[in-house]
Amino acid sequence: MANNLLAGKKGIIFGALNEDSIAWKVAEKAHEQGAEFILTNAPVAMRMGSMGDLAEKTNSEMVSADATSIEDIENLIKVATDKFGKLDFILHSIGMSVNVRKGIHYTHSNHDYYMKAMDVSAISFHKVMKVAMEKDAMNEWGSILALSYIAAQRVFPDYNDMADAKSLLESIARNFGYHFGAQKKVRVNTISQSPTPTTAGSGVKGFDSFSRYADDNSPLGNATSESCADYCITLFSDFTRYVTMQNLFHDGGFSYTGLSHEVMDKYAK
Ligand SMILES: NC(=O)c1ccc[n+]([C@@H]2O[C@H](COP(=O)([O-])OP(=O)(O)OC[C@H]3O[C@@H](n4cnc5c(N)ncnc54)[C@H](O)[C@@H]3O)[C@@H](O)[C@H]2O)c1
Repeated sequence: MANNLLAGKKGIIFGALNEDSIAWKVAEKAHEQGAEFILTNAPVAMRMGSMGDLAEKTNSEMVSADATSIEDIENLIKVATDKFGKLDFILHSIGMSVNVRKGIHYTHSNHDYYMKAMDVSAISFHKVMKVAMEKDAMNEWGSILALSYIAAQRVFPDYNDMADAKSLLESIARNFGYHFGAQKKVRVNTISQSPTPTTAGSGVKGFDSFSRYADDNSPLGNATSESCADYCITLFSDFTRYVTMQNLFHDGGFSYTGLSHEVMDKYAK
């Protein structure tokens, strides 16, 4: 389905680790729609992941950047703007919690790990936008997106400190979105995606159960990573120019469903 929705648009895509990654699907679809972009990931992910295949497939350059390092982000933005001029879109598709990885309960969080989760999963979004704004790297009507999860609003007990990180991420989108809009006419949003079987998603304890529950409790079922990528493309396109500072649910209706018949039937005596 190539409609050239992103013809002539240039951007940066963070977070394509392997072909399950949401960012991987976004890169494939952005390429299909005529965009050019730099692929970036943390140095360790560039060594261990398979981003090289994606770079080849989408004819993209790869630049390593730890999204918590201002120095790395400055280098990344410089490489991107030297190559493309000003940018039209940035995808922040990054999440990591050491407390989740080590199975440490939320109430026993190690606070060094907790701060790391905030830095990698949320504050990095602020850092990327700060550098992009300071370097005047975005074109007017550009679009910046990050990926979130409904644990920012409602409790999913095993989502752990990532829930706090997502709340912060969404708040950063609103607040930075205000300033980026007012100063540079750039829009900033988060997409709150259904549970999706990726490396980060499957790392959350009980992923299979809450993913199946979400599927049963959504009239349309869980949204796939491919459809999430389609939604990202619309938000990078010129058809959504006045959408900003939003957290947009892309979840098959889960966020507004109290109880589906499918779930109710499971409780019928
Ligand atoms: N999978 C889900 O169920 C789900 C649901 C809603 C939202 N999300 C969000 O989608 C985004 C993408 O995750 P995914 O599910 O595609 O998993 P993924 O594991 O494929 O992607 C996470 C990415 O974050 C990168 N990353 C980690 N630390 C980094 C750092 N310091 N600097 C730069 N990059 C770093 C990883 O290398 C990886 O590429 C995350 O924000 C995640 O929280 C995922």
